[in-house]
Amino acid sequence: MKKITIAVDGFSSCGKSTMAKDLAKEIGYVYVDSGAMYRTVALYALEQGIIKEGKIDEDRLKQEMGNINISFHFNPQRGRPDTYLNGQCVEDRIRTLEVSNHVSPIAALGFVREEMVRQQQRMGEEGGIIMDGRDIGTTVFPNAELKIFVTASAEIRAQRRYDELTAKGESCNMADILRNVEERDYIDTHREISPLCQAADALVLDNSHMTIEEQKQWLIRAYQHAIEK
Ligand code: CDP
Repeated sequence: MKKITIAVDGFSSCGKSTMAKDLAKEIGYVYVDSGAMYRTVALYALEQGIIKEGKIDEDRLKQEMGNINISFHFNPQRGRPDTYLNGQCVEDRIRTLEVSNHVSPIAALGFVREEMVRQQQRMGEEGGIIMDGRDIGTTVFPNAELKIFVTASAEIRAQRRYDELTAKGESCNMADILRNVEERDYIDTHREISPLCQAADALVLDNSHMTIEEQKQWLIRAYQHAIEK
């Protein structure tokens, strides 16, 4: 059966990664969470003191981009890939609210995007890949055979993120999370380079009132339709 490329884009915390990861498992495709790569750059910058008091030392980050080696290794227990920075698993450390609060300005930098997009395109050279993010259907894989644009209301997305963080034992409050979701939406849709926008040929999925199982079925149908074309 032919192996296609599937691009899943959309707003933060709208469940893109859950649906993309589940479909990848179901059809035996490689799943890549491109947001994890931007989060890893933000983590590196925070831990190395490249972000201080909210300000990014862009010259230093540019110089050090070559020191940031990102890879993914499948974790059979979680049924999805974990993110590694220079050989060390950073999957939990990149998901904190602190990283979420700094990732969008990092992801708006041209030299960061150039490097990440280059690596993402290399990962997709052979097809059989599902990648989720903000610019996958527009910039990374503009020729993807299947493009999905996912959306849900900001309140519902904040509630999902709150549930995820509290389940992990991280203390957080709804107001901070909603603010973060809205701020990232704003930066992601207004940045100069590859802003988040719906590709003209994308299928739109508003999953505000859908269960995980319902969205999984929706995506499988979309996939089957795409491979029959
Ligand atoms: O999981 P969540 O939806 O919160 O976000 P993410 O997919 O982990 O991405 C984190 C951040 O990275 C986003 O808010 C964007 O600022 C940025 N990003 C991007 O610019 N381009 C991508 N392809 C993926 C993420």
